[in-house]
Amino acid sequence: MPDIQSHNERPYLGFGLGLRTEHYETIVNDWPKADWFEVLSENYMVGGGKPLHYLDRIRERYPMVMHGVSLSIGGGDPIDREYLTQLKALAERIQPAWISDHLCWTGLHGKNTHDLLPLPYTEEAIAHVVARIAQVQGFLGRRILLENVSSYVTYTQSSISEWEFLSEIVERADCLLLLDINNIYVSARNHGFDALDYLRGVPAARVCQFHLAGHTTGDGGILIDTHDHPVIDPVWTLYAQAVRRFGFVSTMIERDGNIPPLAELLTELDCARRIAKPILAELAA
Ligand SMILES: [Fe+2]
Repeated sequence: MPDIQSHNERPYLGFGLGLRTEHYETIVNDWPKADWFEVLSENYMVGGGKPLHYLDRIRERYPMVMHGVSLSIGGGDPIDREYLTQLKALAERIQPAWISDHLCWTGLHGKNTHDLLPLPYTEEAIAHVVARIAQVQGFLGRRILLENVSSYVTYTQSSISEWEFLSEIVERADCLLLLDINNIYVSARNHGFDALDYLRGVPAARVCQFHLAGHTTGDGGILIDTHDHPVIDPVWTLYAQAVRRFGFVSTMIERDGNIPPLAELLTELDCARRIAKPILAELAA
């Protein structure tokens, strides 16, 4: 596999946002103060039209990373080669700093649930996922990032913690990590583990990106990862702890529902900057 970057030479992009259709016009008119954009890969796997038009214009001014939801790296169906071919073509078009997807499965027997479902934390699942990551990285010719998903159920078969499962996979598969700080908070609350144990338990050199997002509280107090609210204070606190542990890691805010004007998200992104910059200055001193 071509080695485009050592995992401990991770590029640092600064503070970014998820690129959303609602903001296309504002971005190309104002060229706002976001350092980079994360694009949803599946939205641009098309032959032409408005999304690609804006993508190319915005790419001229900003670094980009690609984030997908359809890889189903933990799934039971074979890896979809057609999907990988389209993913690779998009990567050739926009030259992203990296490509990410989720450590999950999304369906079976060709049916996509459009949910990011958690895996059992077992040796069997580790071996299954590691072999599939090798296929994907071999096809793409680069390391991928995998993101921790939020979860609402656990499996009785699980024999280790989520962070041990995640760490074993990224080390054995030689891939990288996208840590979603809100997902850690949501899962910690739902399952009763300590989010700091999670942060302490993953290999720092593998962490290339952070996600920040809001969530909602459902029936029975379960937290649901909805991406339709601002980031809450305890997640900001956890973010500060993550910056202290992992250092210079590119950070972005995800918003997928109740999408506000771009200015509001830029203000929220400034909050990330205000939290991270003094810690990073201290770490760099
Ligand atoms: Fe995320």
